[in-house]
This record gives sequence, C-alpha cells and structure tokens, in this order.
Amino acid sequence: MEKVFENEIKEGLRTNWLGNNIFYYQSVDSTQSEAYNLAKKKFPHGTIIIAEEQRKGRGRLGREWHSEKGKGIWMSILLRPTFSISFASRITLLTSIVIYRVFKKVFAIESKIKWPNDIYINDKKCTGILCEAKGESDKYCLIVGIGINTIKTEYPDMIKDRAISIEEIIKRLPQRLEIITELLNEFEKAYEIFQEKGFESFYDEYVNAMYRLNMKIRHNKIVGVIKGIDENGHLVVKKDDGQIINISSGEIDFLF
Ligand code: BTN
Repeated sequence: MEKVFENEIKEGLRTNWLGNNIFYYQSVDSTQSEAYNLAKKKFPHGTIIIAEEQRKGRGRLGREWHSEKGKGIWMSILLRPTFSISFASRITLLTSIVIYRVFKKVFAIESKIKWPNDIYINDKKCTGILCEAKGESDKYCLIVGIGINTIKTEYPDMIKDRAISIEEIIKRLPQRLEIITELLNEFEKAYEIFQEKGFESFYDEYVNAMYRLNMKIRHNKIVGVIKGIDENGHLVVKKDDGQIINISSGEIDFLF
C-alpha cells in the first residue's frame, strides 16, 4: 500500500528534484521529526515525508496541530537551501502562495493568506505551514511542514470555530493525490524562481491574497491597520497615530 501511494504521487510529478524521494507512513509522531531524521541521514534536497496520521503534530509557536488519521495532508518537505539562512523565512511566505495557487487551480477556490502563513477560506483556517531551520547557518536544512485539512471532522473545542476542511467548502470529497502532486509541481517552480530572483516576483500576489488587508489588528500591545508586507516579508501596520511599523514575527489578532 505504502509503495503504491508513493508511486502514484511520483507519476503525477513534473519536477526535477522535488519528490525524487518520497516516504509515506501510516502513523508518525510528526512528519517534521521524520524529515529531520532523514536530513541527519543525508537525504537530499526535495525529500518528501507524508503521513496519514500524526500522533504529535506540531504547529507554530509551540502549539499542537490536530492531525487525525486520513483527515488531511500532513507533509514535510526537506530543503537544503543554497541561499543565506537570513532569507529562509521568505520560504514560509512562498509556501503560502503555492497553497493559494493550488486551491485556485484545483478547486477554483479563492483562499486568503493570513500573515505570515495560514491559509484561510471563508474566514476559517484550512491550512497551516511550519518552517523549521536546522543546523549551522552556512550549512543548514529547512523543513517545510504543511498541514491541509481535507476531510470534514470533529475538531477539538479549542479550534472548532476556526478550522475548516476542503470537503466542507467544495461539498464533495477532494482528491488528495491531485492536491499533493499540484502542490509539489507548483512548489518546485516557485522555489526556483525565488532562488533566481528573490521574493519580489511573488510580492504583489502575496499582498493581493492577504486576509483582511486594511483591517484592524492587535499584535502584543500594538493596534493598527494591516497595510501589506515589506521587502523582508514583515507585516506593515499603520498605527492609529499614523506611525508605520513593521512586525517580524508572532501572531496577529483581528479586532473586528
Ligand atoms: C500552524 O499553523 O501552526 C502550522 C501547522 C503545521 C502543521 C504541519 S502538518 C505536517 C507537518 N508536521 C507537523 O508536525 N507539523 C507540520
């Protein structure tokens, strides 16, 4: 069974390096940890790990990621970037664009990107992205974790008002294989453009897809209106007193 799924994914790929090695598991603690284990074993740039279930799925900011068996795509991509680690956080933004494009192409869904990297549909979160860098700054690897809720389920109380699956949006069962192959094809293309030209070519698309642009947010003690992102991928916020500030990390809460 495992090999069958890996081969089915490979058949749909039009990539050069992404997905040459695919590891598909029924159950793991976290595909992020599996990817890191493979990194330590010297697996190459573009290795993919996918699991049906994660027992300890990880979210951003130390949170848990609900990863029920068969209810989503729980996947990590192992990258060995040749660019400086100081650019690595852009890959988070780039991955959001890739997911945004895939939803548009496969389901004609116009999703939104909640900065930095949550994908929202109908005001609810459908996908989360977690990028983790490991190793020394001159020889690091980047593990891009993607969690897409595909099938309707009972979400835990903590997130049940904020989470949504693709099935609930398109009102039929989504083809997981198509999402995975499109995602990988699109990711490789985008990554290569990013490597060559930087984030600039994606900038407008990102800003246009931003969730609640021009709406009021709070970040720690700062309250202001979202104006976009800057060239570093930081969130640009206009405070009530007119001052423009840039937020580099963390979580934002919407006030309305
Ligand atoms: C977030 O929104 O907080 C990020 C969620 C990232 C979840 C994915 S699922 C695959 C990979 N493995 C993990 O343990 N986490 C990421």
